[in-house]
Amino acid sequence: MSTPDHPELKPDAVEAPDSILPDAPPPSIDESVDLPEPEAHVSVGEKLLEMRNITLRFGGVTALDGVDFAINRGEILGLIGPNGAGKTTCFNVMTGVYQPTDGTVWFDGKKLGRRKKYQITRLGIARTFQNIRLFPEMSALENVMVGADARHKTSVPGAVFRLSPRHFREEREGRERAMELLRFVGIADLAHAAARNLPYGYQRRLEIARALATEPTLLCLDEPAAGFNPAEKAELMDLIRAIRDQGYTVLLIEHDMRLVMGVTDRIVVLEFGKKIAEGTPAEVRDNPAVIAAYLGVPEGEPTDVA
Ligand SMILES: Nc1ncnc2c1ncn2[C@@H]1O[C@H](COP(=O)(O)OP(=O)(O)OP(=O)(O)O)[C@@H](O)[C@H]1O
Ligand SMILES: [Mg+2]
Repeated sequence: MSTPDHPELKPDAVEAPDSILPDAPPPSIDESVDLPEPEAHVSVGEKLLEMRNITLRFGGVTALDGVDFAINRGEILGLIGPNGAGKTTCFNVMTGVYQPTDGTVWFDGKKLGRRKKYQITRLGIARTFQNIRLFPEMSALENVMVGADARHKTSVPGAVFRLSPRHFREEREGRERAMELLRFVGIADLAHAAARNLPYGYQRRLEIARALATEPTLLCLDEPAAGFNPAEKAELMDLIRAIRDQGYTVLLIEHDMRLVMGVTDRIVVLEFGKKIAEGTPAEVRDNPAVIAAYLGVPEGEPTDVA
């Protein structure tokens, strides 16, 4: 995927680091860190983002087919569904990677329209990626500072060439804010290590810190716990709750049903590009269409899902 808006800032996927730091302590979040209060026009509980009748076709493939749902300000909304259901495509539509073939996305009372990715970031939507994307040679701290730059208009080259006192002050403040974010997500111990050398769990959290650095109102997490063991997953869910408790709205894609049920306020279920269910975790868990979608059995057949 290209980033025509900021080609020079195209992050590379971090691939199998060859020198992971083996002695890193397990990440440990610091909930005493106060994040900036997210800004929005809509009030808590009102619709912050709305997908209205979204269809997206890629040639013959209908990735999204008339999808309708809303994310309310202040909630954690789970987006689930089998592989290929269209979950990541929803993120891509919300963040301006793709224009829908039909339908409209509303965010904080405005149509997203044909806004570009960086404009959507400034409106207040941030995301992480299913396959981690970091700037592998930059330190963890620098990766977060790039996130902050995406929100505030100062560019990285500008930071190098404009050597005014004001600029040094902004740079120092940006560094301090980035450090706070690393503390919040629990990875400040390795702030100065290159992203590529961070343990996998740190890299996942670093992506979250970088997304938070853009000061989003809505944070979209695409399988942030993929590849984690159960204990690591539980800790990540604590982090997601802590983010919500600071006033952020979270959209979470996660395959582990138990985790999704435990952390979300509501859940939307997609299958083959269509919404097949929406409701509280308990409602969704008991929905026969959801059970069938996950287990590949026709509705009504007996299953042993707990
Ligand atoms: N750029 C693209 N070009 C063509 N088809 C695409 C493109 N992006 C997504 N698709 C197709 O759209 C459908 C939905 O894909 P998507 O990645 O959104 O699924 P997903 O629910 O995120 O699945 P997973 O759980 O495997 O990540 C799939 O059939 C996929 O092959
Ligand atoms: Mg996906």
